[in-house]
Amino acid sequence: MAELLKTPRGTRDLLPADTRIWQKVEATFRKVFRAYGYAEIRTPIFESTELFARGIGEGTDVGKEMYSFLDRKGRSLTLRPEGTAGVVRAYTEHSLGSGENGEAKLYYIGPMFRYERPQAGRYRQFWQAGVEAIGFADPLADAEVVAMLVQALRESGLKGLTVDINSVGCPDCRPAYLELLKAHLTLHASELSAESQLRLSVNPMRILDSKDEKDQAAVDAAPKTTNHLCSACSAHFASVLRHLERAKVDYQVNKKLVRGLDYYTRTAFEVLSGELGAQNAVAGGGRYDKLVGELGGTDRPSVGFGVGVDRLIQLLATSPEHGDSESCDIAVIALGGASYGLAFALAQELRGQGVGVWMDLSRKRGMKNQMKTASALSARYAVILGEDELAKGIASVKDMKSSEQTALPLEALATALMEKLK
Ligand code: HAM
Repeated sequence: MAELLKTPRGTRDLLPADTRIWQKVEATFRKVFRAYGYAEIRTPIFESTELFARGIGEGTDVGKEMYSFLDRKGRSLTLRPEGTAGVVRAYTEHSLGSGENGEAKLYYIGPMFRYERPQAGRYRQFWQAGVEAIGFADPLADAEVVAMLVQALRESGLKGLTVDINSVGCPDCRPAYLELLKAHLTLHASELSAESQLRLSVNPMRILDSKDEKDQAAVDAAPKTTNHLCSACSAHFASVLRHLERAKVDYQVNKKLVRGLDYYTRTAFEVLSGELGAQNAVAGGGRYDKLVGELGGTDRPSVGFGVGVDRLIQLLATSPEHGDSESCDIAVIALGGASYGLAFALAQELRGQGVGVWMDLSRKRGMKNQMKTASALSARYAVILGEDELAKGIASVKDMKSSEQTALPLEALATALMEKLK
């Protein structure tokens, strides 16, 4: 026998038993995003490697996890590891901004790819639902984006979330802060974990976010960004927090919060759930005031987030209200060769009018067996087309809730059933 083929490492199939909840969550996100004035954008799954190299930085965690390959003409392409860079490229390429600030509110839902070591909640192909508010400098935009994120997660059914927020400064105040941080960490280099020692020269800020026990003493004593912000960043951060309070969004300032991408300025935030274990971030985002300029466009201060849909669904799937399965309105029970053609015609007429219909296609199942499926699918009515019924020119219609059975003439049966379903 030929060898069985399986999904590549770090990827998985979303099976029919899973996709219901995915559809629900996606529908909730779309509804909330639209309510805040965001329009959907769909960008390519792969882009030029240069876009991500410039956008997210090759030295960053995400930059090192890129799925890059050469195409047949030797061009370097990369499967998108995140949504922001592609959206910013499309924004500039198609001049999507309106008004003097070039405002655009865009959202996306789709797969992203990162060559990470797979573990619970960490995949090589995973889904993000994200938004990008481009051309918005005011702290109101940061607060609106965080409030929208919390609302979308709550409406999806997520309970027990926390919002961590920090300011990572800007190109004016960050260099001096980085010097201080580097000096402190270098002094404690021998106490740091092997990974943090490597990060010391490439991306020292990321050490602040380390979960390694070994790093904690040095990290706790390290200077924090919020104590070294320029006055403009400081005022911006205070204002964001004030607006969040106005929007009744609970948050905690986490001075160790640093994001795994280079483009952030000022506000950075994450939504965490204790139930996720090591990979505990359900969503992350922040402000990126320089990215549009760095990717060749006019400088446009912007802010956005990405939700890890796989992680969110992992959290929701444990709650019983999401356990529902496929259902139908009507089960047409065909019994005997002659009834199948009639059952099919009836099913098609009803389906054409938007009614959910199940019928057996094997021609092998008896009454009991078909009624079992009708119950399992929570059908409202079972329409029985047995030999006796056909001989009399009727169908027996069973109300699956009351078990009451009535006879309806075959003529205009679909219309009578539609009437019953109203
Ligand atoms: P990020 O924090 O890298 O941000 O990713 C956002 C979310 O995607 C994470 O919080 C996590 O839930 C999920 N995620 C990341 N990697 C994986 C993985 N390997 N498996 C499963 N889930 C994963 C961004 O990507 C930014 N583009 C967000 C953003 C938008 N910032 C501004 N605008």
